[in-house]
Amino acid sequence: MSETLLERPEDGIAVIRLNRPEARNALSAAVREELAQHFTALAADETVRCVVLTGGDKIFAAGADIKAMAEASPSEMMRRAGERSWKPLKEFPKPLIAAVNGWALGGGCELAMHADIIVAGEGAKFGQPEIRVGIMPGAGGTQRLPRAVGKFKAMKILLTGEPVTAAEAEAMGLVSEVVEDARTIERALEMARSIAALPPVAARKIKEAVLAGADAPLDAGLLLERQAFQLLFDTADQKEGMAAFVEKRKPAFRGE
Ligand code: HXC
Repeated sequence: MSETLLERPEDGIAVIRLNRPEARNALSAAVREELAQHFTALAADETVRCVVLTGGDKIFAAGADIKAMAEASPSEMMRRAGERSWKPLKEFPKPLIAAVNGWALGGGCELAMHADIIVAGEGAKFGQPEIRVGIMPGAGGTQRLPRAVGKFKAMKILLTGEPVTAAEAEAMGLVSEVVEDARTIERALEMARSIAALPPVAARKIKEAVLAGADAPLDAGLLLERQAFQLLFDTADQKEGMAAFVEKRKPAFRGE
């Protein structure tokens, strides 16, 4: 059986579900390769406007597969080049929502942090426990976590390996919204539905400006924003959106 499932529940929306419950959705090479393939395909699929990534009702992901790397040497780890399979997620140009129930640990927490929006069930727990098995995060945890929550919250999570609850994660800015566990996926789908109905070029440019701007000096980020903003005036959806506002009617966006 495939270790990830790709579903298309509604027009414009794709759901990727990690499907390795017997190993708590640990990110084996096969899982990461399948994820890379899904994200590469969905990036190119013009019918997809928004993607939801989830591990299902009970667990998001317990991190990299410890059993598969316990005996590895440094050169073996280098040859595996894990960064190759993360690249399509890192560069995914469309809105990505993580729907997190249960544990999001290590590479699982890093996976969630590749998303643009994180919806967490109230029982979800986030952590970077790598230090407890003698390593450190290797898929962005030391970089994305401090950018999301600030140095002192991040250092506590990274250096102690202790998980935080969904409520704590929300308070520190690691989570966009916390809902009842049973509502996590439905809430992520609701958001995906509303994003999928909005102009995709604008969504893409917002994501691009936020991500590229986050690491740029303010003036460079503002320049990037201004150019993307101006470019949107070349889209049919901008003309339609503004005409609909002036004419007091609902816009009919065409994704052009
Ligand atoms: C391999 C794992 C695993 C993992 C769980 N399993 N997590 N196998 N890699 N990361 C396996 C267990 O060995 C066990 O297999 C089965 O899944 C069920 O696990 P239990 O521990 O019995 O389940 P539970 O009591 O529900 O506890 C769930 C858990 C715990 C809290 C998530 O499994 C856990 O702490 N896992 C490790 C979390 C972790 O340290 N993550 C960081 C990994 S390093 P058997 O065969 O006994 O049934 C990392 C580096 C990232 O992520 C680098 C970049 C990618």
